[in-house]
Amino acid sequence: MELETTQLDKSYRIDLREKYSEKEYNKYFKKNHIGDWSLLRWKDVGKPYEVKKMSYDRVAWENEHNETMPVQTSWEYFNKSFHDWFIKDVPTELSESKSNFIKSLASFRPKEVKVALSDMVKIHLWNYAHRIEDGIWDPRGKRALFEGLDVQKPKILFLGAAEGYEAMQLAAMYPGAEIVMVDYDSFCRDVRFADFPERYPFLGENQATGGYKIYFKEDFSIEYIVEDIRNLPYQNEFDIVLSVGLIEHFPDELKPEAIDWHRKFLKPTGYAILTTPRSQLRSKLYYQIMADVMNHTYRELMTVEQMGLYIYENGFDILSHGYIKVHNAVIAKPR
Ligand SMILES: C[S@@+](CC[C@H](N)C(=O)[O-])C[C@H]1O[C@@H](n2cnc3c(N)ncnc32)[C@H](O)[C@@H]1O
Repeated sequence: MELETTQLDKSYRIDLREKYSEKEYNKYFKKNHIGDWSLLRWKDVGKPYEVKKMSYDRVAWENEHNETMPVQTSWEYFNKSFHDWFIKDVPTELSESKSNFIKSLASFRPKEVKVALSDMVKIHLWNYAHRIEDGIWDPRGKRALFEGLDVQKPKILFLGAAEGYEAMQLAAMYPGAEIVMVDYDSFCRDVRFADFPERYPFLGENQATGGYKIYFKEDFSIEYIVEDIRNLPYQNEFDIVLSVGLIEHFPDELKPEAIDWHRKFLKPTGYAILTTPRSQLRSKLYYQIMADVMNHTYRELMTVEQMGLYIYENGFDILSHGYIKVHNAVIAKPR
């Protein structure tokens, strides 16, 4: 693994390219086109798009239990389902899905053909979105997003940490970081994080030389807490509070509480960093096709203007806003 190279593993991309031109699409783009957030109105930016199509598993659970699936249960379903895809041997599954599809055609049973076709489309889409394009982890976008923070050996709190990817990328860039990851689904700590590939390289800073250094999961100081964010014992003591794909799972009446979690544990001078999936046609298609994999919970797709306005209205000043490959991103400070 050399600097400035990229290569494909069977499940994911390794990407140690750091240099790119200003214009390159996959760099975090500090759009920063809104100068004064106090002038922005909801009637001008509209409200987020709600993804309505739920997974087969959620619909089946609700039919069986005759009630709405509890939120925490919906996360447990989501995390298991999503993890199954991260660990796929994609090249093998691509060829299996093709031969299953051809076999199904020979069966002359429309239902079988439909299922085989849908499986084939899903694995192709996953290969493209995660493995080829690296849209989910997006290390180049995340590095560009995280660069330039005024912190030394930061204490980082990752809310709804799942496998913990982004906090590890941050810690590579700010050596000596102490990370606290929080997720109330124990599967995230015990499987998603525990099984995160040991040899996945995070490109960060070499403090001795000021150049680059490659870090691995074992190099970071990480405490992983299985707890509801509402019950965390901390004061305002973190330099960075981070969430990736969290606030879009809260309808408007709960957003103030979810956004306030980012302030509660932050030093007055600290940074809140939030990302949410972008509201664009390709994301709408993705969540439609991947509904059985992804849609166990309430979910919105929003624009960076909508996201920033929620954060601004709930007591933060926006330092920068823009987007990476598939997410909007905002860096904010408590007002
Ligand atoms: C959509 S995921 C974050 C996306 C993540 N990057 C991934 O790859 O899945 C949000 C995470 O937040 C967790 N979560 C949601 N509400 C929570 C709460 N109140 N307390 C703790 N964890 C919570 C869920 O269990 C889930 O793992």
